[in-house]
Amino acid sequence: MTQTLFISPHDRLFVLTGAGISAESGLPTFRASDGLWAGHRIEDVCTPEAWERNPALVWQFYSERRAQGELAHPNPAHIALAVLERKLGERLFVCTQNVDDLHERAGSIRLLHMHGELAKSRCGAECGERPFTDRTVYKDLSAVGRCVCGAMLRPHIVFFGEIPLEMDRIQAEIAKATVMVVVGTSGSVYPAANFVQWARKGGSRTIYIGPEPPLNATAFTQVIEGKAGEVLPELFSSISSSS
Ligand SMILES: NC(=O)c1ccc[n+]([C@@H]2O[C@H](COP(=O)([O-])OP(=O)(O)OC[C@H]3O[C@@H](n4cnc5c(N)ncnc54)[C@H](O)[C@@H]3O)[C@@H](O)[C@H]2O)c1
Ligand SMILES: [Zn+2]
Repeated sequence: MTQTLFISPHDRLFVLTGAGISAESGLPTFRASDGLWAGHRIEDVCTPEAWERNPALVWQFYSERRAQGELAHPNPAHIALAVLERKLGERLFVCTQNVDDLHERAGSIRLLHMHGELAKSRCGAECGERPFTDRTVYKDLSAVGRCVCGAMLRPHIVFFGEIPLEMDRIQAEIAKATVMVVVGTSGSVYPAANFVQWARKGGSRTIYIGPEPPLNATAFTQVIEGKAGEVLPELFSSISSSS
């Protein structure tokens, strides 16, 4: 059945995306593979403890993700969001849990990567140097560069157990929005899984899109079961720059 979102000129949209929006681009989600990410246990590759214990394995994992990410292309869901931004301008804000860069490659600009970015590295000692673009696929740990302070670089990724980036800005954008659209996230990673509750408290309409209901499905005003690449272009089709 066709699903279309109707908005008024007063509406502002906050969109949260998860691994599911990149699934049709060929990037694996966690839940599709029993809680493994590309065959690895999260505890082995995506926690501060893993980084302490075995930085070589962590860098190998994120180097593989970089190589895989370079080969992927934005799908119709990423493109639908970029097209929507051209219509709504600053009335649309996209927050992604994804570390791939498919949203920006589709053309999204008002975009925040709350869990970091695959294509960046930063100081492993958090000395204050800013993260920088780094698409290098490191062959082994000896190839990994050093920060100006001497510490080894680490991937610019928020490991499980670390605080997501720019939470103040996210809270402010959710507070300003009147509609929240959540796409392709299982509702099991916090604090992102709570955003729908924050939006509901502020009186927003909340819509989820994905092939199956997320864990926090009951918090949504509406759940649309379907693939992001098929649902989003249709969902936004009635929205124009004067909507
Ligand atoms: N592409 C990436 O950057 C990537 C990939 C895997 C994991 N991660 C990281 O792991 C965490 C995973 O949590 P999560 O909740 O985002 O993902 P998740 O793996 O826990 O859940 C993926 C969700 O996407 C849904 N889905 C599958 N195919 C879909 C489709 N075609 N359209 C719409 N939805 C679809 C599934 O039903 C599931 O609910 C994130 O924090 C993220 O940083 C990132
Ligand atoms: Zn440093």
